[in-house]
Amino acid sequence: MSRKIDIFITEDQIKNRIKELGKKISEDYKGKDLLLIGILKGSVPFLCSLMWEIDNEKLAIDFMDVSSYGSETESSGDVKILKDIDSSIKGRNVMIVEDIVDTGRTMNKLLEMLNTREPASLKVCTLLDKPSRRVCDVKIDYIGFEIENRFVAGFGLDDDQYMRQLKYIGEVIFDK
Ligand code: IMP
Ligand code: MG
Repeated sequence: MSRKIDIFITEDQIKNRIKELGKKISEDYKGKDLLLIGILKGSVPFLCSLMWEIDNEKLAIDFMDVSSYGSETESSGDVKILKDIDSSIKGRNVMIVEDIVDTGRTMNKLLEMLNTREPASLKVCTLLDKPSRRVCDVKIDYIGFEIENRFVAGFGLDDDQYMRQLKYIGEVIFDK
């Protein structure tokens, strides 16, 4: 099976939207601490670009790696922590940074797990949102782009671990 990538969201569109998100987050967290938790590996380019746009002297970052077992195309919600964050989040303002929320199962589980650690606040920021695929009703506070049910790669998102390095987001077209 061969595949090709159609540019779907350009580098400029991503840059501009992340600037807007950074400005909004800077305003919302004015005078407060903020810990961004990036979910490996897909969120890495987004988290880097986003933190450069956030004006906050008490900004910190950390990473978590989770695996969600399920079929090839859909997560199960059986989320296991492969790498946990290094610090305590008790009493801190925390924001989970994700590449995409699809069924919402992964985010639902993450929110459940992190909430038990008693953060002062816990919010979610995702680069992409596919609301039509939602199975778990999760509240997302900051969204880069809402997209239809398409399979996309680039800017951190992978197609079978490849294409994460693209500076744009493309739709992966599979043909026989
Ligand atoms: P959820 O638990 O179904 O919301 O799973 C979200 C995860 O599925 C994301 O973190 C991605 O790893 C993966 N995913 C969902 N849609 C796409 C896509 O279009 N391209 C690449 N990965 C995707
Ligand atoms: Mg992911």
